[in-house]
Amino acid sequence: MNSFYKLKTVKVQKDTNDAVNVALEIPEELKDKFRFKQGQYLNFKLMVNGNEERRSYSICNAPSEKSNTLEVLVKLLENGKVSGYFNEHLHMDEVLEVMPPMGGFNTSYHPSNTKTYVGLAAGSGISPILSNLKESLYQEPNSNAYLFYSNRSMNHVMKKAEIDKLVEQFNGRLKVVYLVSREKHEDPIFEGRISPAKLNHLFERYTDIDVKEATYFICGPSDMIKGISDYLKKEKKVPAIQVLFEYFSAPDEEDSAEMSDEFKAIANIESMVTVIIDDDEYSFHLNSKKESILDKALKDNLPVPFACKGGVCCTCKAEVLEGEVFMEKNFALTEDEVARGFVLTCQCHPTTNVVMLNYDV
Ligand code: FES
Repeated sequence: MNSFYKLKTVKVQKDTNDAVNVALEIPEELKDKFRFKQGQYLNFKLMVNGNEERRSYSICNAPSEKSNTLEVLVKLLENGKVSGYFNEHLHMDEVLEVMPPMGGFNTSYHPSNTKTYVGLAAGSGISPILSNLKESLYQEPNSNAYLFYSNRSMNHVMKKAEIDKLVEQFNGRLKVVYLVSREKHEDPIFEGRISPAKLNHLFERYTDIDVKEATYFICGPSDMIKGISDYLKKEKKVPAIQVLFEYFSAPDEEDSAEMSDEFKAIANIESMVTVIIDDDEYSFHLNSKKESILDKALKDNLPVPFACKGGVCCTCKAEVLEGEVFMEKNFALTEDEVARGFVLTCQCHPTTNVVMLNYDV
């Protein structure tokens, strides 16, 4: 199971007025632990105003850049405790507690491929998409990439200097279209958020791609992800394996309410839950209607991994070895992972009298 390591900031640089670009140095002895794939994220643990807070931020650099740093972008959120700390107080040479990279928002690349990759990003959703698109361009000299990137205004476009430089560097293999949602533009196609209708227009005007053949990376607000991924899969018949997305917050209440009804319907049972963490076994009693398995483990001071507690980040992933559980929400595991018995323990309740879960996966 992953734990936290101390990493030093070697860059703390304002990227826009409300976002900061932070680079962490990876010392030689942690190189293997912090080896990453494009599109992965880092979990941070820090004390803010006397409370321990955990947050996940996506890595925005790409493995092929061969840097000895990992970079994240942190956008300042309204009342954001951690984003506020990163944007207003974090300084150079500060030591942060960070877990090794996690997440599977990526695809594999091969130099002989001739493919098209399309990044659809909003706001700070650019981080994992930039990482993926850069890696595709470095690793596949015959592939092309498109980036459609929406922000409130052009002043809010994160990593703009780097993106514009990449367009030149890859000499026509990367095409970028910026959209603004709260600013007027002389051509309305550049106004508004990325919706299915907008995407259709953008494809017609800016690409000559076979929509069904391309691979898509989507990251932004949950309604955008849902709308675009449904549109690509259902209307454009893009195979699901080519539509990759990552939520950075839990989708809206509609879904939660639906899940909550399912939760209400599960049987009321007492269960003996055993969890394996770093090869050690811990057991506790838990009622199926009470807190999640993760919350109960935390209450018992067990060293279980977590970050978002919202079914989004995947940090609390475990494998069910025995018994069954009900998972309230899942915005992180793939269908295949669920079929193989993986669960998000922050969302799980036991539904059999005996349950055994392994966190060492
Ligand atoms: S802690 Fe993030 S999905 Fe469970």
